[in-house]
Amino acid sequence: MHDPHPPQPATPAASGTTPLPATERAALLRALELAARGPADTPNPQVGCVLLAPDGTTLGEGHHRGAGTPHAEAAALTDAAARGHDPRGGTAVVTLEPCRHTGRTGPCARALREAGVARVVFALPDPGAAEGGGGAELAAAGVDVAGGPAAVGEQLAGAALDLVGPWYARAARPAVHVILKTATTLDGRVAAADGTSRWITGPDAREHAHRVRAGVDAIVVGTGTVLADDPALTARPDGTAVQQPLRVAVGHRPVPATARIRGDDGRFLQLATHDPALVIAHLAARGARRVVVEGGPRLATAFLRADAVDELHAYLAPVHLGAGAAAVGDLGVTSIGEALRWRTAHVERLGEDVLLIAHPATGDPAAGHS
Ligand SMILES: NC(=O)c1ccc[n+]([C@@H]2O[C@H](COP(=O)([O-])OP(=O)(O)OC[C@H]3O[C@@H](n4cnc5c(N)ncnc54)[C@H](OP(=O)(O)O)[C@@H]3O)[C@@H](O)[C@H]2O)c1
Repeated sequence: MHDPHPPQPATPAASGTTPLPATERAALLRALELAARGPADTPNPQVGCVLLAPDGTTLGEGHHRGAGTPHAEAAALTDAAARGHDPRGGTAVVTLEPCRHTGRTGPCARALREAGVARVVFALPDPGAAEGGGGAELAAAGVDVAGGPAAVGEQLAGAALDLVGPWYARAARPAVHVILKTATTLDGRVAAADGTSRWITGPDAREHAHRVRAGVDAIVVGTGTVLADDPALTARPDGTAVQQPLRVAVGHRPVPATARIRGDDGRFLQLATHDPALVIAHLAARGARRVVVEGGPRLATAFLRADAVDELHAYLAPVHLGAGAAAVGDLGVTSIGEALRWRTAHVERLGEDVLLIAHPATGDPAAGHS
C-alpha cells in the first residue's frame, strides 16, 4: 500500500505551552539532548536527566549509555558528586519516569529519594508493568512529583515520545486494552456508496456503544470518519453526559476548526501518524489503559494488521446495502488458513441488531493471530 505521507513524528497537533517553570523547561530540553546521545534501537530506551539546585543552576547531568550501564538518574547523581555538588533539596528533571524495579542497576526512584531530591519532573510515564510507578513511589515518600504530558506540556512530552517511540510502543502495548468497534450490515458494509452510515444500527445498539464509551479512556477514529461523519464522540449513556474520554483523530489531514470532535473541554487530540503502535504509545503516555477504536475501515484495517486489537465489538444490523465501504480492507490474507480468527465471548440481541464480542483466537492452530 502506498503511503503518501513519509514517516514523521506523531507529536500531537495540539499546541499548548508547557506548564513548567522556565528553568525546568530548559532542563528538560537539555535532558532530551543528553538522552539522544545514548544508543538508539537497543532493548533499553534513551533517557536523559538533569539535576537542578533549588536556585535553578545545574548540579549534574547524565544519560543512559545502553543495557547494563547506569540509568540516566544514577549517571546524573554520579556527575553531581564528581562536581562536588549535593543534590539535596534539588530537582531531578528526567525524560522518562524513574524506574522502581531492581534490574541490573538499582531502582532510580529509590536512588533519587535517598539522595534527598525534593522534586522530580518527568516527560513520559513509564508504561512497563514492572518498571512503572516510580513517580508514585516518590510521591508517597513526600517528593513533589510532576510527570506526563499534563505536567510538562504536549510539546515536550511529544518530543520525548518521538525520541523513544518504538521502545515506548513496545512497552505500552500490553498495558493498553484495545477494543475495535464496527457497525455493519449483513453484507459487511459500514457505509452506503455515498459514504453515509447513519444509522446502520438501531437505538439499542447505539445506546450500548455509548455505555462502552463511558467505560474507556479514549475513543479513536481516523480523519476519514471525522471528515465524513463529523462525530461528536461523546459518551452519553442513557442520554446523560458522564466523565468524557479523550477524543482522538488519527491521520495527517487537518481536522476542521468547527469539527464536533474538538468539543470545548480540551479533551481532543490529533495524532498525525498511520502507525497503530504509536497511537497506543501516545495514549499510554496520557494514562489511557482502555480505548475503543471506532473505525473507519482504513484505521480498523491498520489496527488489525498490526495485531493491535484485544477485543472486537461487532454490531450486526439486519440490513443489506449491496455496495459501499467494507468494515475492513486488505489484511494480507490470501488463503483461508491465514484468516484472522476470533473466539466469541458474548452474543447479545440489541433491538433488531446483534452484538458479538470476541477476542483474538491466540494459540488456536486455526487462528490467524500470532
Ligand atoms: N459503520 C461504522 O462502524 C463506521 C465507523 C466509522 C466510519 N464509518 C464510515 O467509514 C467511512 C470513512 O472511511 P475511511 O476508511 O476513510 O475512515 P477512517 O479509517 O476513519 O479514516 C481514514 C484515514 O485515517 C488515517 N489513517 C490512520 N492510520 C492509517 C493507516 N494505517 N492507513 C491508512 N490511513 C490511516 C488516514 O488519514 P490521513 O489521510 O488524514 O493521514 C486515512 O485517510 C465513512 O463513510 C464513515 O461513515 C463507518
